[in-house]
Amino acid sequence: METITLREVGLRDGLQAEDRVLSTDEKLELLRALAPTGLTRLEVTSFVHPKAIPQLADAEAFLARAEKPAGQIWSALVPNERGAARAAQAPVIDEWTFFLSASEAHNQANVRMSVEDSLQAAAQVAAAAQVANRAISGVVATSFVCPYAGPTPVEDVVRVARRLYGLGYHRLLLGDTIGAASPSMVRRLVQALQDALPEAELGLHFHNTRGQAPANALAGAGEGVRLFDGSIGGMGGCPYAPGATGNVATEDLCWLFEAEGYATALDLKALAGAARSAERLVGRRLSGSVMRTFEEGTACGD
Ligand code: COA
Ligand code: ZN
Repeated sequence: METITLREVGLRDGLQAEDRVLSTDEKLELLRALAPTGLTRLEVTSFVHPKAIPQLADAEAFLARAEKPAGQIWSALVPNERGAARAAQAPVIDEWTFFLSASEAHNQANVRMSVEDSLQAAAQVAAAAQVANRAISGVVATSFVCPYAGPTPVEDVVRVARRLYGLGYHRLLLGDTIGAASPSMVRRLVQALQDALPEAELGLHFHNTRGQAPANALAGAGEGVRLFDGSIGGMGGCPYAPGATGNVATEDLCWLFEAEGYATALDLKALAGAARSAERLVGRRLSGSVMRTFEEGTACGD
């Protein structure tokens, strides 16, 4: 049976987009709720500018108190040298995630840098990670569609991915930042990257804005991708934009992949329990579907 790794990014990508700012204690509670799920890879915070993402401004305080269960690998976002210096002081962070956008317009909006300047920062972060003896991975945001520039040319993604790979980012995740990809786009891009960088470990990071993330994930798995990001309960998105949703729910991906004959080594019931904890903590109904089937009264008797 083929094994798929689901990387939980709710504590980072989910919480950074939630309107309600969780206290450090509440984040620790969510982390504890995730412990019995079997998840081995978790992105737990960001070393970005605290004013840019106030939801994660307590990164250091959170990590100082967080207990890492045996067997978990933790990553955090590291956008620049300043972030790398902070991450180097956090021994529990095993892997640094660098992110940039394939689209110039989105990169400017997100990190106030040109793509070329971001690639310079990527080189600095990679060098700092080597000194600090940490693993690195790269996320290429807006790999499919940019909210400002429209569909992203495959060549642009391949060009940025090649540069990152050359800097030592051998694990590369393609982000569908605004949830606008479709399965054929996924197949086309994954194939192009497999041709360009056959040795890279590719991952996919889907938002479920248009409800197509599960279809896209299945298309990616069909092309051989074995690493997928998800957020417990589907946390994230903007609660004030009607219909907007965040990352695809981790437990929904787990259910789908298991049903389709892949092994995830995750406990679906424990994932649903963690999703319910997330829902209580963020204080709004989350978009995950599979978690509902574990609620009392969902089994229809007639
Ligand atoms: N952590 C904390 N502080 C940081 C920092 C970091 N990673 N990077 C820069 N700073 C501080 C600098 O020390 C400087 O402080 P000072 O004014 O007191 O000297 C100030 O921020 C400005 O530094 P500069 O290099 O000009 O950075 P910037 O203001 O252009 O910010 C980013 C660049 C990338 C750090 C910022 O845009 C950012 O954090 N964006 C977050 C984007 C994000 O997380 N998006 C969601 C994930 S996809
Ligand atoms: Zn995301």
